[in-house]
Amino acid sequence: MTILEAQQLTKTYRLGDREICVLDGVSVAVAEGEFLVIQGSSGSGKTTLLTLLSGLDKPTSGRILLEGIDITDFKEEELAPLRNTSIGFVFQSFHLVPSLTAIENVMFPAELRHDHDAEEKANILLRRVGLLDRAGNFPHQLSGGERQRVAICRALINNPKIVFADEPTGNLDSSNGKAILDLLLELQKERRATLILVTHSQEIARTSDRIIFLKDGRIAAHGLGSHQGGRDGFSEQHHVS
Ligand SMILES: Nc1ncnc2c1ncn2[C@@H]1O[C@H](COP(=O)(O)OP(=O)(O)O)[C@@H](O)[C@H]1O
Ligand SMILES: [Mg+2]
Repeated sequence: MTILEAQQLTKTYRLGDREICVLDGVSVAVAEGEFLVIQGSSGSGKTTLLTLLSGLDKPTSGRILLEGIDITDFKEEELAPLRNTSIGFVFQSFHLVPSLTAIENVMFPAELRHDHDAEEKANILLRRVGLLDRAGNFPHQLSGGERQRVAICRALINNPKIVFADEPTGNLDSSNGKAILDLLLELQKERRATLILVTHSQEIARTSDRIIFLKDGRIAAHGLGSHQGGRDGFSEQHHVS
């Protein structure tokens, strides 16, 4: 079943009298439970695509369907609860609230929806990622890898159907980065969530269900991860003209 569908998305920015076309007709359908990797060089539109797919920003044209419902024209007050419960987001630079402790950061999205089990759920997640003993620490007292583990807990506390992660290991060294990606994948499988991940890691991309490559705002190629039988992302590429 398709959980998320983008139809002919375009995004243009106006800079003075110049129009910059960042996305130029991107269509993609994501299946429930799928692990989709998005790759492409810097500036190819990966972050822009994630912000449109997750409802953080509006496309210039095209449609976005979440569970078959066209959310393209949803107003902020309709999008906010969707973003809080159906979607989890993990950013490259963590985006934790500096004045809140680790557990308060994790609980935050659950408290927004008045979940009485917020603290219990946060504790379960922090234990799962090995940070229960750091629950009372503020972000500045944690390492980069620890902060990202807290951010992953926060993204998962409402049991979202779709988790978006935009280069979540970009600010971490490679061994920390690998551990974070492995953790994210384990949690996705445990919770049967759909994962849409931007990463440069070929090793991780190979374990995905599907890879899409963005180039100049278009999908330049599709590849299959090893998960669905392809030996690697490149050998199974189908170039789209
Ligand atoms: N708010 C904005 N205003 C103008 N240009 C933007 C804006 N956001 C992104 N861009 C431009 O869009 C292009 C794609 O950016 P981005 O989606 O961040 O790429 P990626 O994540 O693949 O590196 C870049 O050229 C960037 O400068
Ligand atoms: Mg980016």
